[in-house]
Amino acid sequence: MNFDIKDISLATKGKMNIEWANNQMPVLNSIRKRFAIEQPLKGQKMSCCLHVTAKTANLAITLKVGGADVVLCASNPLSTQDDIAASLVMDYEIPVFAIKGEDNATYYEHLKVAAEHNPNITMDDGCDLVTLLHQKYNLNNVLGGTEETTTGVIRLKSMERDGALKFPVIAVNESDTKHFFDNRYGTGQSTLDGFMRATNILLAGKTFVVVGYGWCGRGLSMRAKGMGANVIVVETDPVKALEAVMDGFRVMKLEQVMPIADVVITVTGNLNVVNKRHIECAKDRVILANSGHFNNEINIRALEELSVLKREVRNLVEEFRLENGKKIYLLAQGRLLNLACGEGHPPAVMDMSFANQALGAEYIVKNHNRLESKVHKLPAEIDNKIAKLKLLSMGIEIDELTQEQTDYLNSWESGT
Ligand code: NAI
Repeated sequence: MNFDIKDISLATKGKMNIEWANNQMPVLNSIRKRFAIEQPLKGQKMSCCLHVTAKTANLAITLKVGGADVVLCASNPLSTQDDIAASLVMDYEIPVFAIKGEDNATYYEHLKVAAEHNPNITMDDGCDLVTLLHQKYNLNNVLGGTEETTTGVIRLKSMERDGALKFPVIAVNESDTKHFFDNRYGTGQSTLDGFMRATNILLAGKTFVVVGYGWCGRGLSMRAKGMGANVIVVETDPVKALEAVMDGFRVMKLEQVMPIADVVITVTGNLNVVNKRHIECAKDRVILANSGHFNNEINIRALEELSVLKREVRNLVEEFRLENGKKIYLLAQGRLLNLACGEGHPPAVMDMSFANQALGAEYIVKNHNRLESKVHKLPAEIDNKIAKLKLLSMGIEIDELTQEQTDYLNSWESGT
């Protein structure tokens, strides 16, 4: 079996971490039990480009138990947990191509190996694999794919608009049991976790700016407020900005807020959000970080051009000294803070995201013949089933509509 990982001797530690995460993933466990019996992915070659973490390991194991021939590569050069990669290879015989801190050339080399696995099903986080397959490979064998994140779905929808998408893709991110929980509560908690691990800085009393008040930004703002930070939101969408105001946050323009911000975190999925003009008017010793998918939300080139000195002062904390004498700190080279400086989302939340992934792969196998080469949502019944399983695992029962209530909600004749 071919693989490319940092150190196979880390496998024992990795296995314990995989098992620890698995304890918090009851929905995925129930799917794994069914997959073991029904083998819905039997004979399917799967190429997965995902963050190589303990939670992903449990997804990859589930896919393999379901009969798939899985190859896994990293969806980000800094998010790989090397012990997990080692255990997947050693204990579960899943080929992994991922090394934490790999350079760009190695990242794309690993992606290429995943593409050359000649998949029937792709599983992507950010759409790098699907893009590469469309640019350089024959797509004859591909039945379809699944996509994990907002940024990937945006890229896929523009492929669909341009008529460039050649197979159906399930936008896992669009399931309610994904973005309501993973993007909001997962990113909210894990971004702060990554921030604190990287800096060990007290949040209470800090002026903490969240740029982007989408699913991730809402969660991050809510959690930072809970830690006592003075949260200010920056938005471009008037409805979301209004929502932030009514949720109790101050909303300002980024240029206005930079001179007073202690911390600025981007979660927009957009380009050059923190740009040269913002860096120029930043408060001395501001900390910049990003929790959006790509490392292009903070204009790092502009930061470098404005700097006379750059040094790493802590692990993944870089200090830039500007010509005007001010210092700016950048976390994790502008890459996903929660995955580069922490362990990503807690397993309990990825339990639902990855249940969507596993059921998305099964859905592709069963329905690819009737799916157009477009971006699709998983049907609401699957979404609801995942929510029910999660509630069940938490020991929570909910009410059901009576027949009379169902009829009432479906009737238009009488309002009384
Ligand atoms: P979303 O679409 O719900 O929210 C993004 C928000 O950013 C929108 O409200 C938009 O109006 C705003 N925005 C765009 N450009 C802006 C600008 N120049 N200034 C201020 N606001 C701007 O997206 P979601 O789900 O919150 O995802 C955001 C990013 O985070 C994506 O790149 C996504 O892939 C990524 N993501 C990261 C995770 C992580 O683990 N760190 C988990 C889930 C998503």
